[in-house]
Amino acid sequence: MTFKIQTLNNISAKGLDRLPRDLYEIASEMSKPDAIILRSHNMHDMAIADSVRAIGRAGAGVNNIPVADMSKRGVPVFNAPGANANAVKELVLAGMLLSSRNLMSAWRYVEELTSTGEDLKKEVEAGKKRFKGVELPGRTLGVAGLGAIGVNVANAAQALGMSVQGFDPGITVNNAWRLAANVSQALSIDELLSRSDYVSLHVPLVDDTRGLVDAKRLKLMRKGAVLLNFSRAEIVEEDDVLAALEAGRLSYYVCDFPSEKLRAHDRVITLPHLGASTDEAEDNSAMMIADQLRDFLEVGNIRNS
Ligand code: MLT
Repeated sequence: MTFKIQTLNNISAKGLDRLPRDLYEIASEMSKPDAIILRSHNMHDMAIADSVRAIGRAGAGVNNIPVADMSKRGVPVFNAPGANANAVKELVLAGMLLSSRNLMSAWRYVEELTSTGEDLKKEVEAGKKRFKGVELPGRTLGVAGLGAIGVNVANAAQALGMSVQGFDPGITVNNAWRLAANVSQALSIDELLSRSDYVSLHVPLVDDTRGLVDAKRLKLMRKGAVLLNFSRAEIVEEDDVLAALEAGRLSYYVCDFPSEKLRAHDRVITLPHLGASTDEAEDNSAMMIADQLRDFLEVGNIRNS
């Protein structure tokens, strides 16, 4: 018997190699697949063949998959929690440093001076003053969403000397235990926002978290706070973020999504959803998904790593 696996995105070869070709046929175009492996493809817009018995997302979030409809059909949706946590954590740290040292503006300043033929050496003193930053030790990071990524971010921030507090709408005992050493306090989202110099969002996109950070909540934030969103764009209300930046409530918004509305603002750093885009994260995610699909297709086991 051969299991047919359809891939809707480029999935790492290391992951697909876990599915031996004598048992698995793998292709991006096929009829009647047994399972689908995908990364960012939006499945809400596509007809999913009746033959599909399982879906594997090589990433953490499953908001691009109609999970409720699949559940009604008895089709399990597997994801890869934690597989890309280190990659996302590293990008969050980069985002904190980019903002706290005004690096994007400083880089643009040097680019502009260079292109207009200005004497760079003369402008160094002005640049030093204009782009003076702040340091992280002693500042407070609020982590909203204490899954694998949030926990990684919390631990790294603590190692940098920051004081870390957390919020999670559905914290598990396991996570609470893992967090105990590094998160000083578990707070409500409103408390977290009002007591943090940096807030990093790592909640999944579900009905309850859509628009979680809106005008009312942004007003609770400390003046000059930095908001980092490496989860999903829809967790924040972009118009309200813009207003908070204009009012000086936020000093920076750093997000891992392109944004037409926000991209021109000099205190916004937008990225093309790069959090999980490393060799390691792509391999880890694809391997985790392949292992889960094998277990399910061959033995009927349902496990989420
Ligand atoms: C995730 O949900 O983990 C990311 O969206 C993964 C990705 O970038 O594909």
